[in-house]
Parts: sequence; structure tokens; C-alpha cells
Amino acid sequence: MTSSEYQQRRQQLMSKIANGTAIFRSAPTAVMHNDVEYNYRQDSDFFYLTGFNEPQAVAVLAPHHPEHRFILFVQPKDPEKEVWNGYLCGVDAAKELYGADVAYPITELNEKLPQYLEKADRLYYHFGRDRSFNDTILRHYQSLLRTYPKRGTGPVGIEDASLIVSTMRLVKNKTELNLMRRAVEIAVEAHNKALQNSTPGRYEYEIQAEIEHIFRLRGAMGPAYPSIVASGKNACVLHYVENNSQIQDNDLLLIDAGCAYGYYNSDITRTFPVNGKFTPEQKILYEIVLEAQKQAIEEVKPGNGFDAPHKKALRILTEGLVEIGLLKGDIDKLIEGEKYKPFYMHRTSHWLGLDVHDVGVYQHGENSHILQAGHVLTIEPGLYIVPNIKPAEDQPEIDPRWVGIGIRIEDDVLVTSDGCEVLTAGVPKEVKDVER
Ligand code: GLY
Ligand code: MN
Ligand code: MN
Repeated sequence: MTSSEYQQRRQQLMSKIANGTAIFRSAPTAVMHNDVEYNYRQDSDFFYLTGFNEPQAVAVLAPHHPEHRFILFVQPKDPEKEVWNGYLCGVDAAKELYGADVAYPITELNEKLPQYLEKADRLYYHFGRDRSFNDTILRHYQSLLRTYPKRGTGPVGIEDASLIVSTMRLVKNKTELNLMRRAVEIAVEAHNKALQNSTPGRYEYEIQAEIEHIFRLRGAMGPAYPSIVASGKNACVLHYVENNSQIQDNDLLLIDAGCAYGYYNSDITRTFPVNGKFTPEQKILYEIVLEAQKQAIEEVKPGNGFDAPHKKALRILTEGLVEIGLLKGDIDKLIEGEKYKPFYMHRTSHWLGLDVHDVGVYQHGENSHILQAGHVLTIEPGLYIVPNIKPAEDQPEIDPRWVGIGIRIEDDVLVTSDGCEVLTAGVPKEVKDVER
């Protein structure tokens, strides 16, 4: 990402807030235990607009200010601290490297911030990420409101800055897509290796280790989310992350793993028989999910709603469940009554980008967001015959032959001008290819 791309983004945002001032806070650090912290990861909006990846920073956009439109507050250089925790960018380099019109030490925030708010008609800020910083913002806002009658200028309302940035983040440009393609390429390699190396007798964590080895080996920052390596009935836990069971003969293995590369994420799931052959029940359920997934992907095209793939997947899954006797009744009524829910309890898609469950409009139904070229979303239907789960009302008892089977197939899909491109097509999913 070049500095002019970050600048373009700030420009675009500034044109939307006109006479307002937008304030963005860096992500807080997070404690792992005692005085040990997790690796730092910048807040996605902050990173999207600045590329700056240190904590204790504030970015201000004040398009109406006569001199400074982009202001950065950062930690100053501190050789003693840097010996322990690594180099800090510092105030001077923050201005030079990140294109700020002016940069200040973060300790001067309270003193310097008012001049960028006094003439603004609105304040744009996202509450809900760093609570202690919310207080700082409210204190400034209140003090400006109090002096408003005297001055006649100043913000008279606070709006959520992240709503505007989310909409911008939905459409990926070429550079972002290149990073996403690399994140995908690395995860594809990892999944293919796992497909070859997962055999009965091995432990789930061994497969996890081999996957994450490839992530780091290829320069990814690491997993995009805790990798899920779930054998047998563990696959019926959607966010299974223990990964400590021994893989048994006749198990399916569900692997949901993706990596972060240059802050952008991939998110792939495959499910396959570890001994190379599906049991008849596994194969029947797998083919239903695969069909639902493929037909859902067909719905990814400009002009369709975000909901279209989900609706299609629900129909195919419900039809399949009726065919094998896990549901009974009229398909439309079953869908309307959500009778599939004991077997399919999550949605089919989420946006993908700087966040794995990326920001952006998620309206469903009639207000569903319309897909356009440059959007990236996942298509990830599944079926989970969870042990001890009760069927929906008026539905048949669950035949034990299906119980404990969990299947999900997930691809990352880019909307193109005339349809879509399955970015993760490099990992096989056809029955003949996942069997050996
Ligand atoms: N791995 C999280 C998800 O698939 O949404
Ligand atoms: Mn996903
Ligand atoms: Mn996933």
C-alpha cells in the first residue's frame, strides 16, 4: 500500500464529512498474562486511513482547518523504552512517513485537540472500541458545547465515523485484492498440505501446527482467527479451537483456517474423510452441502442482494434434509419456520477484508445490500447433526446414523463486473478430489 493510497482514502472520507472533524483512536494493547502482552494489532479503521501500526495514537481529520487537515498524535521516541519494546516511529517520522500535516506527542492531545474541533460543525467518532478514550472525547465535546454560545462555532452533534469508513472498506481496490490474493494463496497451500497429511491416528493439533507453519513460513502475520481442526463430532462445535483430539478412522476432518497477510485475511473451510473414503451417510450430507455451496456461489453477482446466496443455500439444504428424512413438510414452510436451524444455525456469508468478519452493511431481506464489483464475501454453508440436539417442533426424530457428522465448505468470493471469482478455488472440494 503506498502512502498516496492512504491519502486518497483520507481525502474520500474528508469529502464526506465536509466541515466536520473525524477522530480515530488506535487499538488498545491487550494483556496475555501479568506483564506480557499479545502481539499488537492496529485497529482496522485506523490502519485503513493511516497505515500507522503503533498503539497510543490518535488520528484527526479536519478538512476545514486552514493549515492542518491530517493530524497525528503518537508516542514520542524514547530510547530506554525502545530497548525493551522495539523501535517507535516518533513524532518527526510520523509526519514524514505517514503524510501528516503535523504530528504531536500523544501527551499533548488535550492541549492541541480543541483547535481542530472549534470550527467543526460535527464530530465524527466511533464509540465502543476504547472506553477510556470515549471519556476523553466526551470531555472535549462537552467543553466545546459549553462555550458554543460564546463562540458561535463548534460541533453540535457526534456521528459514527466508522459507518462511513465501513462503506469505503467494502470495495477493495487492486492493491487490497493483491494482498487478499496472497493471503488466499498461502492458506490454499496450507489446506492442500493438510488434505494430504491428515490420517487416522494423528492429533488435530499436529495438523494445526503444519497449517500455521506454512502461514509464517510464507510471511503471513499468522492465523486470521484461531484455526479450527475438528475431527468427528468436534466438527459440530462451530468454533471448536481445542484441537486436541486424536483423529479416528472413519472421521471427517473439518478444517477452518485462514491467514492474515499485510493485514488482509483469508478464511477457508474444507471437510474431508481422513481415511480417504466417505461413509454413505457422510457422503450424502457432504453432497448436499456442496450443492448448496456451489449454487450459492452462482448467486454472487453484481445487482444481487447480499442475501441471495444465503437464500439459495437454505433452499438446497432444506430440500436435501427433506430428501433424507431429517425434515418433513413443504419446503417453503420449512424455510419460513426456520426448521433447518437445528442443523444449520449460522449464516452463509460475511464480508471479508481487514477484519475476518469484515465491516459493512449487513442488512438482510428487502433491504439487503446490493453486491457490486470489488466486494469480497465468504460462501460457507454447512450441516451439523449435533449430538443430543432436539429436532424442531413437528419434525421427525433424528435417526442416529446421521448423528455426529459436521460439514462446512467455505470459499472466499470476489464480486466481478459480470459475476464472481472464487479466490480459493485452489483447494479441492469435489467428492472425487477429497477422497483418495
Ligand atoms: N472462521 C470464521 C468464519 O468462518 O466465519
Ligand atoms: Mn467465514
Ligand atoms: Mn471460516
